Amino acid sequence: MAFLSGASANEEITLYTHRHYESDQALFEQFEKETGIDVKVVKASADSLMERLKAEGGNTPADVLITADAGRLHKAKEQGLLQPVESEVLIERIPANLRDPDNNWFGFTERARIIAYAKDRVKPEELSTYEALAEPQWRGRVLARSSSNIYNQSLLASIIAADGEKEAYKWASGVRKNMARPPQGSDRDQMRAVAAGLGDVAIVNTYYLGLLLNSDNPKDKKVGESLGVFFPNQKGRGTHINISGAGVVANASNPDGGKRFLEFLASDQAQESFPESSYEYPAVEGIQWSPLLESWGQFKQDDLSLSELGALNAEAIRVFNRAGWE
Ligand SMILES: [Fe+2]
Repeated sequence: MAFLSGASANEEITLYTHRHYESDQALFEQFEKETGIDVKVVKASADSLMERLKAEGGNTPADVLITADAGRLHKAKEQGLLQPVESEVLIERIPANLRDPDNNWFGFTERARIIAYAKDRVKPEELSTYEALAEPQWRGRVLARSSSNIYNQSLLASIIAADGEKEAYKWASGVRKNMARPPQGSDRDQMRAVAAGLGDVAIVNTYYLGLLLNSDNPKDKKVGESLGVFFPNQKGRGTHINISGAGVVANASNPDGGKRFLEFLASDQAQESFPESSYEYPAVEGIQWSPLLESWGQFKQDDLSLSELGALNAEAIRVFNRAGWE
């Protein structure tokens, strides 16, 4: 068996990701081309990837964890699953509120948790804040998913941060009373329920509306077309945003390759691809949005440091439970 002189196994990194976009694959290939580092991808649900990282400990093949929601990334950090990455590129490119203060994780895309409303039944002037959805005029009209979902936990954490626990409790129990049905299903299911006339407004992440509007399923496309986008709290702290982000795994065998991958995700090229491919907002400022994101309009973001969402996660879960939001 002959080996070419100087040839060696290619350097590689292994990604644990729960993102399910085909476009991510194209990005990974681009990274391979640019760096010569082979990318191996392991896909599973966010929770099972975290469990796996914990169970594998020092034997994990993973170098990078990619997952959504700062609350979840914070949890990964608390569990010792990530390590700090010292990178001037990341510090310069990623806004401070979208990354861990100790550099264990960085946000690469943003999503806003908005109010999607039935255009034929609701005027945007009737909407104002998340808080206002707890008012009696919305009785029987609100759709929202379960409180076991991290997106709602992070939204409530942001309300705790802004209004305090007492007001957050009042909000959660008020919205629960206003629901058109007990919480169930995904963000997309909430919008389908609004389109079906079950209720009038739904609390959802922006990219899910993008997914509906670009769906191959004509029914879903129609659901998307029947809905308007409302960015809450524009006159106050701004709309709650969250991230999809990544960090280098604590027991990574190729932490330098992992760091290069994170820097690649912050590059113009990667950032420009997200609005088109997954209907997410780029985390890096000054990157061109897609026509769809432009059509939803510019909006003021709540600039709360997203690490706070993780810090307040347990409290948010307690408040949901007390409020009876299943
Ligand atoms: Fe999602």
